[in-house]
Amino acid sequence: MRSDDTLIAAFEAGQIDNTEFPHERHVRVAWGLAQRYPRADAFERLASGIRGIAARAGSPGAYHETITRAWFELIASADKLERYPELLEKTLLARYYSAERLAQGRERWLEPDLHPLRLPAPAPTEAKANLFDVLRHVPTAVGVLATKAGATVHATTVSSFASVSRDPALVSVCLDNDSRSLALLREAGAFVVSLLAAEQEAVATHFAQRERPAGTSQFAGIPHHLGSHGPMLDTAAAWIGCDLHALHECGDHHIVIGRVELAEATDRRPLLRHDGAYH
Ligand SMILES: Cc1cc2nc3c(=O)[nH]c(=O)nc-3n(C[C@H](O)[C@H](O)[C@H](O)COP(=O)(O)O)c2cc1C
Repeated sequence: MRSDDTLIAAFEAGQIDNTEFPHERHVRVAWGLAQRYPRADAFERLASGIRGIAARAGSPGAYHETITRAWFELIASADKLERYPELLEKTLLARYYSAERLAQGRERWLEPDLHPLRLPAPAPTEAKANLFDVLRHVPTAVGVLATKAGATVHATTVSSFASVSRDPALVSVCLDNDSRSLALLREAGAFVVSLLAAEQEAVATHFAQRERPAGTSQFAGIPHHLGSHGPMLDTAAAWIGCDLHALHECGDHHIVIGRVELAEATDRRPLLRHDGAYH
């Protein structure tokens, strides 16, 4: 940022006095120095500049080693200043130092007594990227949603199955707007979810492959039978058959709400997805 180049050049040249150096500028200068120089060098330049400001203001004793360095450590650890608005709070050091400890640190550097000098985690501005990382940690059931309209059948692996309402009995699945199952399901007005058993990882992988064959041949070699809501996989852990209750477009997916007409479970252990793996 050009304006910070000018500010830092003026600071290093001793051309900024006390009245022109409010907290916000202090933060920008410290961060800018930390970006431009190795850390120890950047701190020396900051400390020497602040000593100069204090001397020019007629109070050389105002320089405080621990406050200057603690602020520097916090500011220098920020990858981008705008992600850490707390750096603009002048009371921030109270999180790390008691008043007594800070009072003893004017002449020499003292480590904090309340908390290590680490900035709190920033607000998740890159929420989209973070969301995938977070969702990996949420275990989900894995099912195969299948539907039949006329003579056409189609099935898709889903991990977005959820219970919605007990009375009436409603469940939901989220389908990508481009999903072929979504297109067929609109026509069919019905679908069935086979919630897979722990041994059916290969089945989950198969129905997630874009290049799998279309129609009935995608079920080749997978034991199944045709139920009233669509093809059901024989060795699944449970089956939920639904009439289509509602469809809501939501971002790049549709929420499919099904009115439950069939619900059957076995004692087979369910297949789960967690942290990018099947369990
Ligand atoms: C574990 C797992 C879970 C998935 N969950 C969903 C889901 O809930 N909704 C969805 O639209 N796609 C989901 N997918 C991706 C689809 O299975 C995949 O894109 C499939 O090829 C879509 O097929 P279709 O377009 O023929 O319906 C999942 C894939 C995997 C491997």
